[in-house]
Amino acid sequence: MEVIIRKNAAEAVKLAAELIGKEIQTHPALTLGLATGRTMEALYAAIAAKNLDFTHVHTFNLDEYIGLAPENENSYRYYMNSNLFDHINIPKANTNLPNGMAADEKAEGARYEAAIRAVGGIDLQLLGIGRDGHIGFNEPGSSFGSRTRSKALTRETYEQNSPLFDDPKDMPMRAFTMGIGTILEAKRIVMLVTGTEKADIIAKAIEGPLSAMVSGSAIQLHPNVVVILDEEAAAKLTLKDYYQRVFEVEPEWKPYR
Ligand code: GLP
Repeated sequence: MEVIIRKNAAEAVKLAAELIGKEIQTHPALTLGLATGRTMEALYAAIAAKNLDFTHVHTFNLDEYIGLAPENENSYRYYMNSNLFDHINIPKANTNLPNGMAADEKAEGARYEAAIRAVGGIDLQLLGIGRDGHIGFNEPGSSFGSRTRSKALTRETYEQNSPLFDDPKDMPMRAFTMGIGTILEAKRIVMLVTGTEKADIIAKAIEGPLSAMVSGSAIQLHPNVVVILDEEAAAKLTLKDYYQRVFEVEPEWKPYR
């Protein structure tokens, strides 16, 4: 795992956008796994500003609220269209999210997994982290072997995400999410986390024990992960100095120093 600490959120976003931009330039038919949340808004703006060619890119989002139609302003489909897809040249048919209105939830999970397999898997999965440690909506207790399925959301997730709804009571209490097993099959993971409120949970995820209580800790099992943090989010890390040293001496990071 590579942990890169930038001095502020804007610099962290800039680096994440550069890494993703470079992957798309080198692999024009890349399959990208995408995340939502406040942290990603600035990243999507930075990616859109790069004028990359998305004609052959496919995307799969991590999750979608159950019961929200694509036109609903609080759906993740709406979020993705307005924050990214409407600003780049990706064919909408290449963009995938779970269908929050699917009548048969088990079948929807299986359909999504099959769609990911059909394009040959996810090349680069973007992740944030929730305050309760979730990646996607894999709430505490999620199996590291889990696949795309419906999941009940925690009270903490409700408190974190419901202010984004006009009426907080409209936030669904369940969502479809890729499983942790699904996420770990991506060829590369880029996690972006910023802000003081994430300092405790990201330290647990990166440096704490592997535990279903912190789904984000599952990334420790993946052989190709870059975690990009700002100083605020990195505040509770034990190996901060070492991560900095790696960034300064490893040739791979030279172009970004
Ligand atoms: C939601 C998403 C997660 C994301 C999290 C972070 O809960 N399901 O994938 O990591 O938001 O949100 P924020 O960036 O708003 O802190």
